[in-house]
Amino acid sequence: MTDEKKIAIVTGGNRGLGLGICDALAKRGIKVILTAREEVKGRRSVNALLEMNRDVTFHQLDVTKEQSIATLSDYIEQNHGHVDILVNNAGMILEEDFRQTGSHVSLDVVKQTMEVNFYGALRVTQTLIPLIKRAGGGRIINISARNSFPSSASSGWLAFKASKASLNVMTVDLAKELEKDNISVNAVHPGWVNTDTGRFVGDGKIPTLSVEEGAQSVIWLALESPKEITGKFIIDKKIVDW
Ligand SMILES: NC(=O)c1ccc[n+]([C@@H]2O[C@H](COP(=O)([O-])OP(=O)(O)OC[C@H]3O[C@@H](n4cnc5c(N)ncnc54)[C@H](OP(=O)(O)O)[C@@H]3O)[C@@H](O)[C@H]2O)c1
Repeated sequence: MTDEKKIAIVTGGNRGLGLGICDALAKRGIKVILTAREEVKGRRSVNALLEMNRDVTFHQLDVTKEQSIATLSDYIEQNHGHVDILVNNAGMILEEDFRQTGSHVSLDVVKQTMEVNFYGALRVTQTLIPLIKRAGGGRIINISARNSFPSSASSGWLAFKASKASLNVMTVDLAKELEKDNISVNAVHPGWVNTDTGRFVGDGKIPTLSVEEGAQSVIWLALESPKEITGKFIIDKKIVDW
């Protein structure tokens, strides 16, 4: 079965930036599949968007579970036939990573963080690439963070930064491979956004950007940026050196 409308998949769409991205994409006429690892939370968020007449449906997705990703892929194949936009948004940072220095953070914390922020995004992307090719091309957007750059001045958050640095490498690698298939792959720093994670890392300070503001570069990459922009890191809708 095929679907004429553009289809977007957003991971971790039940709250924070992911929910803001779902709302902003749906507002612009995209059919959004809001995914979340917990069905109750995901359906609650979808219902809130449906009340605003957004074209949004829910599907369960835990990015750490291969079976969950495969089930999502089968669902899309049967109901829509293709994917146009994939936003790898799901992410986490653990308390110990935030409080500990790199010389003390446990390998378990590093592994757990990599599992969601990097392996999760890679698994989902590898599984959905055939469905993006089926659309004749598309756009993959990876939500990274500026502090993953080697030039990032501060120490600490080793697990988080390593996971996002890996996501950056994945961005460049897949961009080169998929250019011939008309698929762009970019990474974006959303800014310091007022979400649970944003407030947590602010350690008492209030983040400077709303969810709507944080979603802007993502929406630009998903719908407006020139297709030649691929394999880049974007902040405020501009390419930055990395
Ligand atoms: N906020 C900022 O200032 C900021 C800055 C730079 C980058 N980012 C990045 O932006 C993205 C969104 O962050 P946020 O600020 O919106 O954080 P958030 O409010 O903490 O939301 C994180 C989302 O990821 C989901 N998630 C975690 N583990 C998952 C898994 N295994 N499978 C599926 N979903 C999972 C969470 O689901 P549950 O509700 O089930 O936990 C939640 O929906 C993250 O990648 C983050 O690293 C944020």
